[in-house]
Amino acid sequence: MTERNIPRHIAIIMDGNGRWAKEKGLPRNEGHRRGTKALEKIISYADKIGVEHLTVYAFSTENWKRPQEEVEGLMKLFDRYLDKELKKVDKDNHRFNVIGDLYSNDIPSKLREKILLLQNKTKDKSGMYFHMAFNYGGRDEILRACKKIMKDVEEGKLKGDEMNEDLFSSYLDTINIPDPDLMIRTSGEIRTSNFLPWQLTYTEFYFTSCLWPDFTTKELDKAIDEFNSRKRRFGKSE
Ligand code: IPE
Ligand code: IPE
Ligand code: MG
Repeated sequence: MTERNIPRHIAIIMDGNGRWAKEKGLPRNEGHRRGTKALEKIISYADKIGVEHLTVYAFSTENWKRPQEEVEGLMKLFDRYLDKELKKVDKDNHRFNVIGDLYSNDIPSKLREKILLLQNKTKDKSGMYFHMAFNYGGRDEILRACKKIMKDVEEGKLKGDEMNEDLFSSYLDTINIPDPDLMIRTSGEIRTSNFLPWQLTYTEFYFTSCLWPDFTTKELDKAIDEFNSRKRRFGKSE
């Protein structure tokens, strides 16, 4: 058997928690809770097999439009996740990072503080980077980047004609993160839902009907195997 190539950066749209719960006659928030369990296993497995960056879509800028009860349940889950991670921060080796509009007034300040604390406490670790897309929207990210650029131009720190792809990328939340090699979406939806539009231009896409709480390390292996069968050309001819 030939050695398989592990994608350097895997991005995941963790979708289908609601349908998973519905199928089982459970409340949607129970689906989200089980989704967190699935995520925990995927994080340690990805770290173990040598993935350098794992980015997961946890909450989009559009997800605020969901019923208040569901949004509150999700915030509570993130809060609990952060508490748990902070408690075992000395044992784990991955680096935690959030992409998205962390400074929006919609985000409870206690939650923001915990995110910043966990980012800080894990910044010198040597394991995988775990990026959580939280209050993330690709268009929102691009607009926030444009505003920062315009400010730098106004302040004389930057000239408009200096702009290029690399410089633009450095204004995004994903600064210093290589573009994803593989993007996985669970639940059978074939769309990107405002996830990393700038960064996914040459990413390989893998869609599965598996609902996120059922997504196991075996499912991740299947996606990586499929990735290994793809021929990436980046616009070049063979
Ligand atoms: C994904 O599961 C989790 C979040 C968007 C927070 P959904 O809640 O979207 O589940 P479905 O798509 O309704 O099944
Ligand atoms: C995308 O899923 C966002 C997350 C997984 C966090 P959605 O369930 O919000 O996407 P749509 O509404 O089906 O496009
Ligand atoms: Mg969904």
